[in-house]
Amino acid sequence: MCGIIGYIGNNNAYSILIQGLKKLEYRGYDSAGIALSNGNIKVFKCQGKVADLEVYSSNQDISGKAGIGHTRWATHGEPDDKNAHPHSSMEGDFILVHNGIIENFAELKADLLKNGFLFKSDTDSEVIVNLMEYYYRQGKSTSSETAVRLALSKTKGNFAVAVMCKNDKDQIIAARRGSPLVIGIASDAYFISSDVSPVVNQINSLIYLNENDVAIITKGSLTIKTLENAPAPFKISQSEITGLELEKGNFEHWMLKEIFEQPKIISDILHDRIVHDQTGIRLDGLNSVYSKLPEASRIIIIGCGTSWHAALIGEYLIEEYARIPVEVEYASEFRYRNPILKPTDIVLAISQSGETADTIAALQMAKNSGATILGICNVFASSIVRLTDAGLFTHAGIEIGVASTKAFTAQVTLLTLLAIKLGMDRGILSAEVSQKLIQELIQVPAKINSILDNHLDIRIIAEKYKSSVNALFLGRGTLFPVALEGALKLKEISYIHAEGYAAGEMKHGPIALVDNKIPIIVIAPKDMNYLKSVNNIHEIQARKGKIIGVITKGDTDLSSLITDNFEIPEADPLVTPLLAIIPLQLFSYYVASALGCDIDQPRNLAKSVTVE
Ligand code: AGP
Repeated sequence: MCGIIGYIGNNNAYSILIQGLKKLEYRGYDSAGIALSNGNIKVFKCQGKVADLEVYSSNQDISGKAGIGHTRWATHGEPDDKNAHPHSSMEGDFILVHNGIIENFAELKADLLKNGFLFKSDTDSEVIVNLMEYYYRQGKSTSSETAVRLALSKTKGNFAVAVMCKNDKDQIIAARRGSPLVIGIASDAYFISSDVSPVVNQINSLIYLNENDVAIITKGSLTIKTLENAPAPFKISQSEITGLELEKGNFEHWMLKEIFEQPKIISDILHDRIVHDQTGIRLDGLNSVYSKLPEASRIIIIGCGTSWHAALIGEYLIEEYARIPVEVEYASEFRYRNPILKPTDIVLAISQSGETADTIAALQMAKNSGATILGICNVFASSIVRLTDAGLFTHAGIEIGVASTKAFTAQVTLLTLLAIKLGMDRGILSAEVSQKLIQELIQVPAKINSILDNHLDIRIIAEKYKSSVNALFLGRGTLFPVALEGALKLKEISYIHAEGYAAGEMKHGPIALVDNKIPIIVIAPKDMNYLKSVNNIHEIQARKGKIIGVITKGDTDLSSLITDNFEIPEADPLVTPLLAIIPLQLFSYYVASALGCDIDQPRNLAKSVTVE
């Protein structure tokens, strides 16, 4: 996924674009560039981060009150200077930044080559900008806007673009299909951005462009049309986040800030969704389809990465407390394996960004089969939110750290509420039991805070293991997906190879890995699987394994057996996943910190994978 920013207004664009790109770097950060319009259009771009672009452009003419910028996560072509955006058309008529993938770029490029066009990069984006120039020069009276619309209409795949034309210097054209783009409105300027974060402090309102919308923006005007040149309806809304969320405060990394935000986020979710006398649960976002859920023959939950782990926890909870069959699918597999889908199916997509290409495609396939499609998302007006029949927002606030933390626990909180509500509405859970479970949930924020209070103890343990080459995470029941999530966190930000495994599977192979080097994190709270987990620990110890336990506070039996422990407060198994993941998030964070890793922007990753 890449980041796009644009500005046209009364102030110099350079610093606005640079600061905006810095707030978009979480979307991709292997190269960056800007184009500025001041008499002519100047392009500055280079491999590396936005800070490198600042150094590269600092002693050049960076004046201009209109401009576009881009920070890249490479899809087509190496992350190097020539493939960095903005891309200029062959004769320089058009300059473009692009987020997305053009699926038919090869045939379009072949046609352009036949028409004498030369290419400087390996990107699909350069094909779009040359196609614009082709249409622009083909017709005598073709306007830059018409050329942009004609070129985009020829493409297949998804795009969000911002385009400048050398003959219309005080104009920016923005368009989207499948990749998000917002127009920010200030009293003396317009902004374009891939998401709200870079502009939220500078705008009064915003417009989320719809599919195939084209916005033609000058300093004093904004026109929105469709690709077919018809007037396009649009809604002016207020931004859903406040500027306060966009400061790291005294946290060194966004990820650490977001880990510490979790108690408040979960508390807010519970406050909004547990009715005032704490006897019921309100999930209003599902109201339009809720009647289908208690009697559903099955619920299929799809997602990727961390969201898939949340889905797995949802499966265990919904089957345990509501007795509805649940299947969990990797969206990237589900979309291609020709699954058997029925109109009576409920398909629930879980996605922090709401822009994950595999999840969108899998959901679209489910929609085409007539299934009822729902979403749990963290980003308003995202593609998945637009696609689904109904859904729930996690309201976790913008998640900047590439490694997901607060969005995960917010997803699990909503899935826990859904499981209890379905159990109540199906008569599986009595009023007494459901109220006890609700009380357990209400205590979660305070219990997470008590774990966070011990974060320095976790740091000390983490630093002992920073030189590990491998790690194994084990858990049973709902703590098996927690083990998977803990392993993913460590992999993502410290680059240490880590695997999550169902603890019961140890003896079927992974136990061969046990030696006196590999740390094995065993999640073993006092629950129905406790004794089996203790057996696992004995098996590992018999082979001189190094164990880190996630154990119930005060469990002296285990703490005498294992040297390094992360303690979590005693709790009902319903909420243990929300507690057990916290020390694992901190463990990964502090290992990566001890290694000096780029925690908020890990190598090769992007915050949302909007490509296949
Ligand atoms: C999580 O830490 C990763 N960044 C990644 O696995 C992520 O969860 C996955 O790409 C799905 O993203 P989504 O929730 O935005 O759909």
